[in-house]
Amino acid sequence: MPKQNIYDNQTFFEGYKKIRENEDNANNIFEMPALFSLLPELNGKKILDLGCGFGEHCVQYVQMGAEKVVGIDISEKMLRTATEENSDPKIKYINMPMEDIDKLDEKFDVVISSLAFHYVEDFSGVVKNIYSLLNDGGVFVFSQEHPLNTCHTGGDRWTRDENGNKVHLNLKNYCIEKENESSWFVDDVKKYHRMFSTIVNTLIESGFFVEKMIEPTPDEDIIKKYPKYKDLCHKPDFLVIKAVKR
Ligand SMILES: C[S@@+](CC[C@H](N)C(=O)[O-])C[C@H]1O[C@@H](n2cnc3c(N)ncnc32)[C@H](O)[C@@H]1O
Repeated sequence: MPKQNIYDNQTFFEGYKKIRENEDNANNIFEMPALFSLLPELNGKKILDLGCGFGEHCVQYVQMGAEKVVGIDISEKMLRTATEENSDPKIKYINMPMEDIDKLDEKFDVVISSLAFHYVEDFSGVVKNIYSLLNDGGVFVFSQEHPLNTCHTGGDRWTRDENGNKVHLNLKNYCIEKENESSWFVDDVKKYHRMFSTIVNTLIESGFFVEKMIEPTPDEDIIKKYPKYKDLCHKPDFLVIKAVKR
């Protein structure tokens, strides 16, 4: 089945790159701190990064002492930037869909994925392969768009007051798990909606022990510094999970 490779769309790629260059993007303020807070000690470890994008995290894993990092991404454009800007003798970038990781012939101590699984239809298949690729006691840490976001199927996500301020979330179809199309830089960006329980049960049924979850939300200091993030008190944008291979 053909897999979506939206990051190779030039308009999407440029729009995404611009957002990530903003210091105060939501990844930097909410998602990355949560993800990194769940990582185990990486010293001497072999790491697999699924959907590694520009490779910025891969470089950080090396700086944290990783012995080897394999970064996988379906997008040639993302990996071109990764190679140009974030190369290191300890990092190997591979252009492949993560659905094919069963073809890798090595084991890892830690598998990490940041904001890529909502683009993947066969989450269960990927999780099973991650379990097989991990050494015993290995750790799996990932973030994805929160299920309260991935269920969105069009229209305004928010009910607003007469001045356009967000009052509350318009939630619908949370319980319908399917491919949803959204507009982000371009139309027809496919995201796969799974309920929170499905995500957690998929991990459990694959053999993982779920150790911790974070739904990053702004504290008072963050709201003071970045008032635009106050609406994240209504719903988190990200879900971050740490699971362990028993
Ligand atoms: C939001 S970006 C995140 C990049 C990086 N992990 C980070 O946090 O900076 C999502 C990445 O997942 C990749 N991706 C999407 N679907 C994929 C798939 N099926 N297999 C591998 N990579 C995929 C995209 O090409 C893109 O680079």
